Amino acid sequence: MALGSESFHMPILTIESTCDETAAAVISETGAVLGDCVATQEALHEKFRGVVPEVAARAHLERILPVIDSALKQSGITHREITAIAVADRPGLAGSLLVGLVAAKTLAIAWDKPLVAVNHLHAHLYACQLSSEHNVYPCVGLVVSGGHTSLYHCEGPIDLTYLGGTIDDAAGEAFDKVAAMLQLGFPGGPAVSELASQGNRQAYDFPRSLLKADHFDFSFSGLKTAVRYTIVGPGHQDFSKITLTQQSKADICASFEAAVVEVLVAKSSRAVNNYQCERLIVGGGVAANRYLREQLQQNATANGYEVVIADINLCTDNAIMGAIALEKIKRNEFASIDLDITPGLQRGF
Ligand code: KG4
Ligand code: ZN
Repeated sequence: MALGSESFHMPILTIESTCDETAAAVISETGAVLGDCVATQEALHEKFRGVVPEVAARAHLERILPVIDSALKQSGITHREITAIAVADRPGLAGSLLVGLVAAKTLAIAWDKPLVAVNHLHAHLYACQLSSEHNVYPCVGLVVSGGHTSLYHCEGPIDLTYLGGTIDDAAGEAFDKVAAMLQLGFPGGPAVSELASQGNRQAYDFPRSLLKADHFDFSFSGLKTAVRYTIVGPGHQDFSKITLTQQSKADICASFEAAVVEVLVAKSSRAVNNYQCERLIVGGGVAANRYLREQLQQNATANGYEVVIADINLCTDNAIMGAIALEKIKRNEFASIDLDITPGLQRGF
């Protein structure tokens, strides 16, 4: 179903349900946010200290229609005025993706609207464009989220070449696991970051995996194991009996954060240099991390390139970044009603 140029003056509905946030937004053709709703599932997953896929899928199912309804009501726009329905179809948890996709397809059929497929990782980077006054492309893009740590050469918003990514855990997952080991709650990133600000970043010499490798892959599982052994020693499983002082916990968080950030900054900086770019853009939940933001900025200034980091409210999962669908609509790139999900392989997206 092709979109005529006159109907392009109308807003789009965007749907996001790749992991544990159920989100919908209504975006005008100029990118203005007319309605926005995010239902977080943090409380549901907290007792498991991580996202449980089946619990997430069921919660999406309960929330998806009220969330879409709320975004539409906020916008004051009726479904008749909606021009297209955009949905994140990749990557993510299979059950979670499926709920968003089925909702989008059902509405597309019922309301007779075209469908646009959104790559969730490209959308995380597009959040940087939405946070900037000027065009951020071409650039190098770094996505740091709960499921992914990926570097791209971005010639445009939807013309991205994958340069490398994590071969095991994502940066956000490492934050969540360290928080779980230190009994700091879920999601772990904000809690680890908070405690790290009171700690000594040199207290522990944690590994900087693949820092010097001449490729753009990352690895964080060795770092996670090093933190684990520092907390309980090899072979021990029971983190509920740890007797660390608050200062030791802060030192572990600070040293862990320093290791993650050093690798992220060094490798993204090298990619900017290799691809002779003038700009680095950074999105995803971990991009909300204060120390990472500071270090990225310092390094960019020292090396003469610009860094654009997504606004804090656009770092974690949301449907506003689904505005990337407007770029696809401009190119007449619509999805067929047979669109299927492409769930979460770590690499290559
Ligand atoms: O992008 P996102 O909302 O979901 C995925 O696409 O995975 O990222 C969620 C991740 C979680 O691992 C969370 O702990 C992390 O982002 N995160 C942070 C911070 N805020 C969220 N990590 C470090 N520092 C933060 N301030
Ligand atoms: Zn995400």
